Amino acid sequence: MSPDSILLVQRSWGTIVARTDSAARMFYARLFELDPRTPAMFANADMEEQERKLMQMLALAINSLSILAELSPAIESLGRRHVAYGVTDEQYETVRQALLYMLSQLLGASFDDPMRRAWNEI
Ligand code: HEM
Repeated sequence: MSPDSILLVQRSWGTIVARTDSAARMFYARLFELDPRTPAMFANADMEEQERKLMQMLALAINSLSILAELSPAIESLGRRHVAYGVTDEQYETVRQALLYMLSQLLGASFDDPMRRAWNEI
């Protein structure tokens, strides 16, 4: 990822963080709409807690884009926990779509082509 793309992603993330509750709610609403199998996967989860954890994990990843290699053990262990949750590979694409939807809704006109490309580089 280029330094310019990292900056674009980090700057736009600031806008999302300012509306962290709506961002997380919008993300899960969109995920549940895109993949009807997903609500059942979260049946036992405390959704407020889950929203907080997701936003924290995304913040950690986005703030660390320039040192991503150092994060790989944490990401690998998160990936292993998701295998145990029954998450399939194709569901990561749905999560990606839900995330891009949430960004485009909340960032509005500033989510232009260069910014979309930067987010897609992650
Ligand atoms: C960028 C990709 C993702 C990130 C950053 C992420 C993040 C997280 C985090 C931080 C947790 C809290 C528990 C833990 O740390 O193990 C979690 C739990 C969970 N995630 Fe994800 N996740 C991702 C992708 C997915 C996908 C594709 C699915 C499938 C729909 C999914 C379904 C779940 C489920 C079912 C739980 C457990 C909820 C519970 O019962 O407490 N996640 N996720």
